[in-house]
Amino acid sequence: MSHTSTLLMAHTAVVCLTVFTVIIQKKDNVNAAIQLTATPYLQTFVSHDTYNGTTYYPEGNYSREWLITGQTLNYTITIEFIVCVLEDAKGNCLFDEIFVYDGTNASAALLKKTCCGHLDTVPFTVQSTYGEMYVLFVTDNTVAREGFRISYILEYTKYNRTCDHK
Ligand SMILES: *[C@@H]1O[C@H](CO)[C@@H](O)[C@H](O)[C@H]1NC(C)=O
Ligand SMILES: *[C@@H]1O[C@H](CO)[C@@H](O)[C@H](O)[C@H]1NC(C)=O
Ligand SMILES: *[C@@H]1O[C@H](CO)[C@@H](O)[C@H](O)[C@H]1NC(C)=O
Ligand SMILES: *[C@@H]1O[C@H](CO)[C@@H](O)[C@H](O)[C@H]1NC(C)=O
Ligand SMILES: *[C@@H]1O[C@H](CO)[C@@H](O)[C@H](O)[C@H]1NC(C)=O
Repeated sequence: MSHTSTLLMAHTAVVCLTVFTVIIQKKDNVNAAIQLTATPYLQTFVSHDTYNGTTYYPEGNYSREWLITGQTLNYTITIEFIVCVLEDAKGNCLFDEIFVYDGTNASAALLKKTCCGHLDTVPFTVQSTYGEMYVLFVTDNTVAREGFRISYILEYTKYNRTCDHK
């Protein structure tokens, strides 16, 4: 094998490896949010894996995100905060917060920013315009609490029904 072709092969290998790494990184970013599919049946998600109403979410800049997509995009998604106990900021949302966006990411319109507590007493609901909703939970570096349990469902009610009555 010539010196040139060996070099070429080595170069190709490096290029392939780089492309491969970039693809893997991209895939990781895409999968960063937990993907949920909303259906006409009530389902729930929780703030942390060990959630049971007593166990606290992890301390120290814990964050988690959910992308809820409706089975069909022409209906809305309604989430209901069933249980929600975050670090107490007396309703000022200074520390640990939940953001709900009307789309697939944080660039979409903000529907709700909450730290629960006395300003947003459970249960309360948030509804998307279309079949996509992005929920982001971020905490600061100290103090954890019990966290939350939220239900999500695909809603047929809020849909613009002009087409249904034809
Ligand atoms: C939640 O889990 C913790 C740790 O396993 C346990 O000590 C606690 O009793 C559980 N609470 C409930 C309500 O099940
Ligand atoms: C959390 O973030 C703050 C501010 O960026 C940083 O100072 C702190 O070290 C972080 N703590 C942990 C446990 O990662
Ligand atoms: C919503 O979309 C689904 C799938 O595309 C379709 O079958 C259904 O008829 C649509 N419903 C309305 C009310 O437009
Ligand atoms: C993020 O959201 C914006 C606004 O809804 C949307 O235009 C954009 O396509 C989204 N980006 C991705 C990567 O989903
Ligand atoms: C339903 O759609 C029609 C036509 O686009 C629009 O004029 C009307 O405002 C919509 N109604 C609601 C409740 O969104």
